[in-house]
Amino acid sequence: MELDKIGEYVKEVQDGGTLAVITEDRVAPLYLDRCLRSLRAAGFRTAEMVLPAGEATKNGGQYLDLLEFCAEVPLTRTDGIVALGGGMVGDLAGFTAATFLRGIRVIQVPTTLLAAVDSSVGGKTAIDLPAGKNLAGAFHQPALVVQDPSLLDSLPEDIFRDGMAEVIKYGIIADLDLFSELGDPAWVRAHIGTVIDRCVSIKKSFVEADEFDRGLRHMLNFGHTIGHAVEQLSRFTISHGSAVAIGMARMAEISAAQSWCSEEDRDRIRALLRVWGFDLAVPYPKEAVFRALCADKKRENGGLSLVTLDRIGACRIRPLPLEEVEALL
Ligand SMILES: NC(=O)c1ccc[n+]([C@@H]2O[C@H](COP(=O)([O-])OP(=O)(O)OC[C@H]3O[C@@H](n4cnc5c(N)ncnc54)[C@H](O)[C@@H]3O)[C@@H](O)[C@H]2O)c1
Repeated sequence: MELDKIGEYVKEVQDGGTLAVITEDRVAPLYLDRCLRSLRAAGFRTAEMVLPAGEATKNGGQYLDLLEFCAEVPLTRTDGIVALGGGMVGDLAGFTAATFLRGIRVIQVPTTLLAAVDSSVGGKTAIDLPAGKNLAGAFHQPALVVQDPSLLDSLPEDIFRDGMAEVIKYGIIADLDLFSELGDPAWVRAHIGTVIDRCVSIKKSFVEADEFDRGLRHMLNFGHTIGHAVEQLSRFTISHGSAVAIGMARMAEISAAQSWCSEEDRDRIRALLRVWGFDLAVPYPKEAVFRALCADKKRENGGLSLVTLDRIGACRIRPLPLEEVEALL
């Protein structure tokens, strides 16, 4: 798909009317004009809102300002929002669309690798609260996801690498062939569109089986339980991708130690993460990691579900009592 044809794609899901493009100030100079031009050429009225880049923008105050903006445009129930950006914009604009007039159309245009393979698909939208990340949100499926891999060409190397942690995760949980191909970064760069398509189809299959995250969709959290704990302990100075990489390496170690997977698979996972430059040491004592795990919002009555490894390409969800989780760590 091409950003310059977004107007044509949107026509398939919306018959005229207004589109409010929500983006942020690093993405806007790169892609906003092209997006607006194509939408106008296809006959849509447009409005735009450029927010400050960065996770700090994904907050309640900004969310309320966006609702006011939608009312002022004005958007009606047959209009839509275009979320042009990474996961921050996708989550915030998506949550705005989920709640304005009790829900209007959202079109996701991911501009980071993480957004392309993860946050733009699956319908989870959210804002952060002072008490924690993504604590207020809604399920709201996009009417359309415009995947233009050329938008990733402008990504800084570390942001691209962050998204690679999620790509590697898809290989580990569901696709041995994909996993095997990821060892060659030059190949990945040259075939990024294909890689994204394969990740999205894996995510789609889990979301279709469990849209509201009550069971099978937990599988997408491989490496994330420990990853979130590490992210939180670092006060978000360790990036999401780096924290998830640590979490995946740790889960592979735990799985091998329990003979749930082979030592060979554990070593292949650790080696691939190192190829992509991830540091796999857990920089906190295990007691601190355990305490942070206990505060995880996904904790269930008296226990935690860990996604463990059977083999590369197959994982399983294990609901475990907290004492057992502590012992595994
Ligand atoms: N909804 C979901 O299912 C889901 C899943 C995973 C993560 N998330 C959320 O996604 C967010 C993280 O997403 P992210 O990593 O994309 O972060 P982000 O949106 O903050 O983007 C990361 C950085 O890249 C810059 N950027 C974006 N696109 C660019 C481009 N094409 N060229 C140059 N720079 C560009 C941004 O300005 C920012 O500085 C978090 O808020 C997280 O909670 C949501």
